Amino acid sequence: MFLRTIVNNAKRFAPNIRAMSSQGGPLVDLTVDNDGVAILTMQRPPVNSLNLDLLKEISKSLDEVAKNKSKGLILTSSSPTVFSAGLDIMEMYKPDLKRAEEFWTTLQDVWFKLFGSNFVTAAAINGHAPAGGCLLSMSCEYRVMVSGKFTIGLNETALGVVASTCFMDTMFHTIPMREAEYALTTARMFTVDEALKVRLIDETATDKADAISKCKDFIEKFDNIPPLARSITKQKIRQGPIERHQQNRKADLDEFLSYLKHPKVQQTLEMYIQILKMKSSKK
Ligand SMILES: CC(C)(COP(=O)(O)OP(=O)(O)OC[C@H]1O[C@@H](n2cnc3c(N)ncnc32)[C@H](O)[C@@H]1OP(=O)(O)O)[C@@H](O)C(=O)NCCC(=O)NCCS
Repeated sequence: MFLRTIVNNAKRFAPNIRAMSSQGGPLVDLTVDNDGVAILTMQRPPVNSLNLDLLKEISKSLDEVAKNKSKGLILTSSSPTVFSAGLDIMEMYKPDLKRAEEFWTTLQDVWFKLFGSNFVTAAAINGHAPAGGCLLSMSCEYRVMVSGKFTIGLNETALGVVASTCFMDTMFHTIPMREAEYALTTARMFTVDEALKVRLIDETATDKADAISKCKDFIEKFDNIPPLARSITKQKIRQGPIERHQQNRKADLDEFLSYLKHPKVQQTLEMYIQILKMKSSKK
């Protein structure tokens, strides 16, 4: 059954290159270039924090990329300094629980679509990538990060939040378990050089254009690999976490909602928001 799904999905993935076009919504720009590579740019100023609306648009764009048989996807940001600040804290602070439920299930959808995609995926990380920003990039198959004073990592524990097992699994899939355990428990944010050393990223770049060009080089490596074999291989390698999270979706949602209801979690979030606001007002 699983194999049949993969084969059916992979059949849809025959190269069919479209001319340049641009779509998306106000919060993302989706462009497909003449080589059939889609570029999905998050554009929710100031920091691309992932609120429900942005997640919905990313989810829709991923459907679009799958439907249009793009040969690959590059995920990037319109900000010169931030790839994504991760989940929008305001979605979690004193939340409306109905909306929080939709928020979390949309995040789950985005993860399934990106982590489990048949098309080749790469992230051009042109700035900070904490938490959900790190998750999105780790869900891709290749990461190129622009050098500079940027950091990347899963810092949820610092906010008093336990990263979902889907965040953890994605990190285990990317860097060695020992490094991941240390990073997750200490809320470690890696500098670009540190991230390269543990292979949290694959390459560095001088600027966004260089990062996109290196992502394209990665995607073009597959020009000489039969797409069906590539796609099935990727799906088989990612099958474990995907199946686990398909079975665990409801429990994962319940856990998230129960954290949000916890007064200590709300207190920590409030303090964290104050710190961010103070930092921002000092600029
Ligand atoms: C991403 C980051 C390094 C960018 O730094 P920066 O460019 O100096 O930007 P600022 O910190 O000044 O943030 C700009 C604005 O975005 C807000 N913001 C930043 N991250 C946010 C987030 N994850 N959710 C909601 N709002 C956020 C700030 O409060 C600030 O708002 P204000 O202008 O109304 O005061 C920094 O914002 C950051 O560390 N954010 C928190 C990341 C995080 O811990 N995410 C975990 C979420 S679970």
